[in-house]
Amino acid sequence: MTSFAQARAHAEALRKEISAHDYRYYVLDDPTISDAEYDRLFSELVEIERLHPELATVDSPTQRVGSVPQEGFATVRHSTPMLSLGNAFEDDEIRAFDKRLREALGAEIIDYAAEPKFDGLAVSLVYEHGRLQRGATRGDGTTGEDVTPNLRTMRSVPLVLSGSAPPREIEVRGEVLMYKRDFQRLNARQRDAGEKEFANPRNAAAGSLRQLDPRITARRPLRFVGYGVAALENGRWQNHAEVLDWLTELGFPVARDRSLVAGVEGMLEYYRTIGARRERLPYAIDGVVYKVNRLDWQRMLGFVSRAPRFALAHKFPAEEALTEVLGIDVQVGRTGALTPVARLKPVFVGGAKVTNATLHNEEDLLRKDVWVGDTVVVRRAGDVIPEVVRVQQKGRRDESDRFRMPALCPVCRSEVVRVPGEVATRCTGGLFCDAQRKQSLLHFSSRRAMDIEGLGERLVDQLVDRNLVRTPADLYRLKHAELAGLERMGDKSAQNVLDNIQKSRHPHPARFIFALGIPGIGEEVAKILARHFRTLGALETADWKRLASEKEAIRKDNARRKKRGEAAVPVPLEGVGPELMNSLEKFFRELHNRDVIMRLVDPAFGVVLEARPPEAGPASAAKTFVLTGSLPNLSRDAAKAMIEAWGHRVAGSVSKKTDYVVAGDDAGAKLEKARELGIPVLDENDLHKLLEGH
Ligand code: IVH
Repeated sequence: MTSFAQARAHAEALRKEISAHDYRYYVLDDPTISDAEYDRLFSELVEIERLHPELATVDSPTQRVGSVPQEGFATVRHSTPMLSLGNAFEDDEIRAFDKRLREALGAEIIDYAAEPKFDGLAVSLVYEHGRLQRGATRGDGTTGEDVTPNLRTMRSVPLVLSGSAPPREIEVRGEVLMYKRDFQRLNARQRDAGEKEFANPRNAAAGSLRQLDPRITARRPLRFVGYGVAALENGRWQNHAEVLDWLTELGFPVARDRSLVAGVEGMLEYYRTIGARRERLPYAIDGVVYKVNRLDWQRMLGFVSRAPRFALAHKFPAEEALTEVLGIDVQVGRTGALTPVARLKPVFVGGAKVTNATLHNEEDLLRKDVWVGDTVVVRRAGDVIPEVVRVQQKGRRDESDRFRMPALCPVCRSEVVRVPGEVATRCTGGLFCDAQRKQSLLHFSSRRAMDIEGLGERLVDQLVDRNLVRTPADLYRLKHAELAGLERMGDKSAQNVLDNIQKSRHPHPARFIFALGIPGIGEEVAKILARHFRTLGALETADWKRLASEKEAIRKDNARRKKRGEAAVPVPLEGVGPELMNSLEKFFRELHNRDVIMRLVDPAFGVVLEARPPEAGPASAAKTFVLTGSLPNLSRDAAKAMIEAWGHRVAGSVSKKTDYVVAGDDAGAKLEKARELGIPVLDENDLHKLLEGH
């Protein structure tokens, strides 16, 4: 009889041994035992834990078989946003990147950490006191999905950090991917089981990680590769390469094929070497990534919009393939643009099966002279929409194979027009056209607009087809019974959708303006407009011609001032050019648009816009805010946008220059730092009060 103490000691030893083998296998890529021996150790541990369930700790490798299925994924707000990378294809773009950075840093030559650009999906792993607490997908960069139980099943994700002194808190960022040979095996297994095969390793990795049942994820051969640490504390490490070495000490696999290179020549040589080895690498990549190695330089360079200025992705050229055009269809977009789309004989290109490829517009199609029956070159890079590049061989039989832009919209039968000076052919049906209605509703509810979760394509199709919703204003008048009667809509999901619609009733004005879907008005311009016009009424009734001439006058005046060596006067609505003003004027002139807006802001049903900020005050009144943790109602993006809309700044890290720290749940090091420096800490409520001045 083994005593309990002996069993505990044995379990402990087995756990250590198994983790050490995981480390050898995944991090060092140098296993010292066979799979069968590994399995034997594993079964031994399972057996002990079966006899003594109290020994089965959450961090035991046996827990990697996966816990109980979940109802859905919770959303997680990332402590610092998960950014994207700037892209380049040509050598000259790399030269320009290096030149820009050398000038900004005043450096002769820059050392870059060069790494493969893994074609998987980005995740973040949060460890506290050395234990895995939470793992999330990138999502939109600000919020992702909590996939902790699934990440726990992956043997390359340490449950407990190794190394002599693991940090108290660390958030490791990296990629989840599937090795090519594992992907082949998985697909063979899927095929044998009569299940759906995956198009490429990336889709297989994404599909496997986003399983509601972690036991399914546990059976999928996923791997994690670390490439960075979020909000790295200042001072401990001098460069990126050291950080990656540290990650391996903590138990994380990092790219073996990484390299430290000097300047442009070093980067280009790395690109060519990796490019030549691409096919033979065990994992799929779509390019390489260069990062300035010195961390102090990284900090100096900072970020532009949603990407770091100190890093760049150098992508491999898009893959091309030949296939036949079976037909040419026409799709109608949100702004009514008619897009010819080639229906293709299915072909594998850029790691996925392609059945449709855009031909952009009539002009493009005529220039490329694509006919039905032709053999064409199609191109696809990663997530990019596949396109027809050129005709390889004519296969047309007669005139009927030539494409003609229809005279009537294929969806609503309204007339179509080619606006002089524009390449697009447009349906004149406006919101009378169901295709445009659907697209504009999807845009209205999209994440970066009103962020109404659950209002996806399938639901919008049904709502419009059954005439339950004609404009965004109707969303706020939907009834439970109407929703619950739709396909795939139970009582509960109907209620969820209604709740999410209600939650969207207090948007930031800039999001609201963006959500209206005014042609040409993106997020940035919407922010400028929100800042300039204090009320929606002022925006709706703006005299755009007068504004345009005022702007012009100030510009001319500034030119004169410059000559006289005087300071320039700020130009109002900088960034909103004549074309956009034209678009705004047209939009607000349309009676039906005004009608929709009126119904949208009906206080009884619709959207309530917050009291509006004053014009940005004098520079001295502009304060610097730092956000940390997750706020109860505002996403990171929304809080930032709101603060900026009131003319203040948002910074990434706490320093003596910080005026306020806004802290939510799970606030970490930034909150501590604020307390250390005696900087006022606000919650979400305080923030509203402070901004609105009461
Ligand atoms: S660093 C600040 N390194 O590329 C941005 N990203 O386009 C942090 N990716 O979402 C990314 N391999 O999923 C970095 N070696 C690598 C990468 C890599 C793949 C992905 C990552 C990110 C996307 C950005």
